[in-house]
Amino acid sequence: MKKLVTLTLTLSAICLWISTANTAQASATGEELFKQHCSVCHPNGGNIIKPHETLYKGEREVNTVEAIVDKMRNPGPGMSKFDSNVLPDSDAKAIAEHILKTF
Ligand code: HEC
Repeated sequence: MKKLVTLTLTLSAICLWISTANTAQASATGEELFKQHCSVCHPNGGNIIKPHETLYKGEREVNTVEAIVDKMRNPGPGMSKFDSNVLPDSDAKAIAEHILKTF
C-alpha cells in the first residue's frame, strides 16, 4: 500500500512538472519572441536590410500595437511575412509591445 502511495505521488509530481514546463514555453515574452523571429533583420531594433527603416522611436512609421501587428501580417519589400499560424495574435501583440517600450 505504501508503495502505491509513493508511486501515485511520484506520478503526480512528474505530471505537474510537465504541465509547468509547457506553460513556460507557451508564454514566451515579447522580448524572447522578438529575438526568435525579428532579430535576424532587426538586431537591437535596427534594420540590416534597409538601414533607414529601423524600429527606433522617431524613425519608425508605425507607432501603435495594431499597426505593428499589421506590419507583420502585411510586410513591405524585404521583410518576411508572419501570418497568424506562425505568430498568433497574442504573440504578435507581445512583440509589438516590446518594440514600443524598448526602442
Ligand atoms: C528578412 C528580414 C526581416 C525580418 C525577419 C523582419 N523584418 Fe521587419 N522589416 C524588414 C525590412 C526590409 C523592413 C523595411 C520595409 C518595410 O517597411 O516593410 C522592415 C520594416 C519593419 C517595420 C516598419 C519600420 C518603420 O520604419 O515603420 C516594423 C515595425 C517591422 N519591420 C517589424 C518587424 C517585426 C515585429 C518582425 C518580427 C516578427 C520583423 N520586422 C522581422 C525586414 C525584416
